Amino acid sequence: MSNSARNSTKHVKLFIPGPTEVRPEILDAQTEWMVGHRMPECIDLIGQIRPKLAQVFFTDAPILISASSGTGFWEGAVRNCVSRKVLNCVNGAFSDRWREVTEANGKANEVLEVEWGQPVLPEQVAERLATGEFDAVTVVHNETSTGVTSPIQEIAQAVRQLPNGDDIIIMVDSVSGLSGAELRTDAWGLDVVLTASQKAFALPPGLAFCSVSPRAMAKARTVANRGYYFDFITMEKYLVKNQTPATPAVSLLFALNRQLDDMLAEGMENRFARHLAMRDATIAWAKSQGFTLFPAPGYESPTMTCVNNNLGLEVSALNAYLRSQGMALSNGYGSRLKNKTFRIAHMGDLQMADIAALFAGINQYLAQTPPAASF
Ligand SMILES: Cc1ncc(COP(=O)(O)O)c(C=O)c1O
Repeated sequence: MSNSARNSTKHVKLFIPGPTEVRPEILDAQTEWMVGHRMPECIDLIGQIRPKLAQVFFTDAPILISASSGTGFWEGAVRNCVSRKVLNCVNGAFSDRWREVTEANGKANEVLEVEWGQPVLPEQVAERLATGEFDAVTVVHNETSTGVTSPIQEIAQAVRQLPNGDDIIIMVDSVSGLSGAELRTDAWGLDVVLTASQKAFALPPGLAFCSVSPRAMAKARTVANRGYYFDFITMEKYLVKNQTPATPAVSLLFALNRQLDDMLAEGMENRFARHLAMRDATIAWAKSQGFTLFPAPGYESPTMTCVNNNLGLEVSALNAYLRSQGMALSNGYGSRLKNKTFRIAHMGDLQMADIAALFAGINQYLAQTPPAASF
């Protein structure tokens, strides 16, 4: 399908942290003829997807696939893997929402509060878990509200060193990290890793993925009231037959299969390196314009940059200008960070040339509307 055939909406290139830009060939892959999810064609499709997804997650564990956004697996993770008490690590709006989901599901919890802009650190987590009361911990890899990446590998190491460390289910949200920011599920000893299609996977929204380690699956078998749609045991029972318990988002699976081929052709190491290079270029551009960064130094996300609006730009006016040029970035997240920061996603299939075009657009706006005048 040509781009001009997609004429119901004007193309605005997305530099927002989800949904991210989707390439035309991936959009087109969704237009395959429909198949039934119990038909051999769909079983074969999921059979092709599973080993590729495993390479992207760096795991041999089952990766559950659901027709939902990432939020679904937040609920699934706490419903399936917590029976005593969970420690919710909160360093931004999304990690706080996982806390909210935990409480909405009636699970006992405590909260490790970390200042926004800071990472969750291994020693903080280990200190809280050392009481021995907890059987699980939730942590967000890439906090999309603040642009901070937490050191998941080191956090997991610190947890496993605790006397009861092998009994603690380590649950990681990498919704805006996975496949762009390095994450190695098995090598890092992570039990539950969840993500969604509309971020670094550069797919349309509507699919979520969740790897479940043997330890987490064994735990789920002991937990009552796992819920229905996200019952890990039922989902795995179907997954091993290359099926899902309920109807999957078949068109999105076609797109996923095509996108996984392209991701693996690029190579995961190259993909991580490309994201880091775009991150570094974005930081360099921001500093060259006199902006400072919201994240603590050393923890800046590879997939998106949260820039302090220390020059006093009118972010909505900047974005209106960018939209007239066919681009969009994001304001700061929520009442705490809106207008105080703005966010540039360099995520998914975006290339260095794309972000260079964005910087040129912002520079043009700054030249026309100097910050002092716009504030
Ligand atoms: C870090 C993080 N976790 C979870 C979510 C929620 O995911 P979804 O919107 O796919 O339900 C988001 C959404 O932006 C996110 O950035």
